[in-house]
Amino acid sequence: MTSAAHPRAVEVARLLHEAGAPGEVRVLPAEVRTAAAAAAELGVPVGAIANSLVFVAVGQPVLVLTSGAHRVDEAKVAELLGVPEVRRAPAEFVREVTGQPIGGVAPVGHPEPIGTLVDVELARHEQVWAAAGHPATVFPSHLRGAAPAHRRRTRRGRGRPGRPRSGRRTPSPRRRGGGRHVTNTRPGTRIAELPIPWFRDHMHEALAIYGLAMGYDSAVVAGRYGYAIQHTDRPGFRAVGAFAATDDDAEQLVGFGYGYEIAPGQWWHDQVRAALDRRTAKRWMPGAFEVCELHVHPDAQSRGLGRQLLHALVADLPHPVALLSTPDADTKAFRLYHADGFVDLARGYHFPGDPRPFAILGAELPLHPQDPAAANT
Ligand SMILES: CC(C)(COP(=O)(O)OP(=O)(O)OC[C@H]1O[C@@H](n2cnc3c(N)ncnc32)[C@H](O)[C@@H]1OP(=O)(O)O)[C@@H](O)C(=O)NCCC(=O)NCCS
Repeated sequence: MTSAAHPRAVEVARLLHEAGAPGEVRVLPAEVRTAAAAAAELGVPVGAIANSLVFVAVGQPVLVLTSGAHRVDEAKVAELLGVPEVRRAPAEFVREVTGQPIGGVAPVGHPEPIGTLVDVELARHEQVWAAAGHPATVFPSHLRGAAPAHRRRTRRGRGRPGRPRSGRRTPSPRRRGGGRHVTNTRPGTRIAELPIPWFRDHMHEALAIYGLAMGYDSAVVAGRYGYAIQHTDRPGFRAVGAFAATDDDAEQLVGFGYGYEIAPGQWWHDQVRAALDRRTAKRWMPGAFEVCELHVHPDAQSRGLGRQLLHALVADLPHPVALLSTPDADTKAFRLYHADGFVDLARGYHFPGDPRPFAILGAELPLHPQDPAAANT
């Protein structure tokens, strides 16, 4: 098969066309795996080659679109993202998150949206060239022409066709309707199970809380969107939310949690399987429910909402156990989980691409807080 007909290049060409980008995908006589080789082949300055480089920041992919004349300063990228460090992603990871091989990564056409930083140097060139999904394909673009194609993918991702999405980066928090009432909390707050379509439509709102609670930068939060939307399709998915009343008789999402049943082939499952010894894995992993995310807006923390969300999330589940991973440090999360029945399955574990040690915790279901009086009921 020639690269002209390569399905990845065809898909990139289709996306560019759909976005109204004027340039055509061009097939080169041979694969060009460096910016210098591409520049020589095209007869353009090396600075006009846009390298699409994938990095890992706290376990999440980040795409850096950089001029071929520049090297990426990883410390600067980490600073921009507000994370401790970023590293170049290994080839397998690049393939997984972009669907494309190193050397052929395009700024568009990925299975899920990836948060992207763009080197301003590229704007100095009237026309820039980027790979089109295969190392022997390139396409020309005026930077302003290329951006909408990617932004569009970033907003919409590749979820189920025809499903309406909010498409708003910061949806209005003043909105009623987040699901079935689950528990009474202090006056003006409630915990509810969230219908999946509602949660998908409000994912940006939930992830804004995730970013604030975890102290992550907006690029990391944006990179999480596609994964979180994908998670809602997993078997056994359940989401819960905490709502606080606002002055004008509306309410605002101030916390959320979600999880699903783990299964081989899921990234987290396979990491945890490798982290646990055989016996522990056999005892804890089959049919387990993963508490994937649990976050309370910093302004609403330490008022009992996190505990109520956790208990609502795992209440009446058919699963024998709940599992989760959390940074291995003296945090509110760690204290909450330990206080409410989670035990250590592994400590000091390093997930790929994240410098922080993690603890992997498990609890038998139903969850019994050690001190029921502490359960804010
Ligand atoms: C972890 C988190 C969800 C807990 O929610 P919360 O609403 O703040 O917690 P609660 O008020 O329900 O308190 C539950 C327990 O958390 C711990 N905790 C809460 N506030 C605390 C504080 N200020 N100092 C120390 N521990 C605290 C305590 O163990 C507390 O139990 P206690 O009241 O019986 O002592 C929330 O703090 C958060 O979003 N943290 C940042 C994001 C995060 O780490 N998420 C988990 C990722 S795995």
